Amino acid sequence: MNIPRALEFKDDKLIILNQTKLPLIEEYIITDDYERIALAIERLEVRGAPAIGIAAAYALALSIKNIDDNIEETFIKAYNRLYSTRPTAVNLFYGLNEIKKVFENHKSEKNLYSLLIKRGEEIHNDDIKMCDDIAKNGLKVFKKKSRVLTHCNTGALATGGNGTALNVIRLAYEKGLVEFVHVDETRPLLQGSRLTAWELNKMGIPFSINTDSTAAFLMKEGKVDLVIVGADRIALNGDTANKIGTYNLAVLCHYHNIPFYIAAPSSTIDKNCVNGSYIKIEMRNKNEITHINNYQITLQEFDAYCPAFDITPAELITGIITEKELYLPPYNFNNV
Ligand code: MRU
Repeated sequence: MNIPRALEFKDDKLIILNQTKLPLIEEYIITDDYERIALAIERLEVRGAPAIGIAAAYALALSIKNIDDNIEETFIKAYNRLYSTRPTAVNLFYGLNEIKKVFENHKSEKNLYSLLIKRGEEIHNDDIKMCDDIAKNGLKVFKKKSRVLTHCNTGALATGGNGTALNVIRLAYEKGLVEFVHVDETRPLLQGSRLTAWELNKMGIPFSINTDSTAAFLMKEGKVDLVIVGADRIALNGDTANKIGTYNLAVLCHYHNIPFYIAAPSSTIDKNCVNGSYIKIEMRNKNEITHINNYQITLQEFDAYCPAFDITPAELITGIITEKELYLPPYNFNNV
């Protein structure tokens, strides 16, 4: 299996696989400019909650590379810029705040830049390890060889390592516990049909892509044994923000009596968020609905409503798989 990494830090530069071009073109952005990384996060050239957290951490560290004067001013400007790139995935703020802590404790030291980069690399390496542990814990949800449905992209492209929900599916497939994967195309930006399908194909796991609205029919036909998706932010009570359309799936699973699981690292749990009503939902440009790959598919003057995420209430979630354990309801993440 040879899945290219979403991110690599090499020779003091961040290498970003441009996900807006996949699967047709494999193109990399190589930069040490935090503003270019902020743009990459906004444009979804790098995306997926853990991956944007790691990219933002490296970007903030890079902001003071080669800066001798006004280091603090530069750092704060970069922090604020990166903080405003995307509002929902809590990993972004986790990554930025971890770098800020190191900055505050060592700001007068000569080797400040290396210390910040070191913390970025630790965050990256922790995520690689968490992905592997999530996959191991995720095996517990398979009661038999299963047909799994997933939404959005939660593989290597969305993280620093091998992925969250998609890594559970990969390991379960290797253990003979997955028969087939149904991939929601995931409108509007098609992370399912472009990215998840690309990763599954490279891993040799049998799959087919369906439109998001086909999920109910697949379940009615008895073709789905369980659903596993990722998360962008998990509240203390288990309410979970994930790609728009996730809530629909949880409701459908409830109706069809199909288990519905979330897989995410504990860095996706927001310790300051009591329940889902406090999670800010990102609104995207309406062009993401009126166009596909810059091709206009409806009249430009039509209004379009484009939230990037929705909130699945905890009571619809069968279990939450993290690197620590498989949590079952009622959820209480105060001490995690
Ligand atoms: O808008 P995106 O592509 O960044 O949204 C990503 C998702 O919703 C993923 O499902 C989520 O971040 C989990 S990534 C392991």
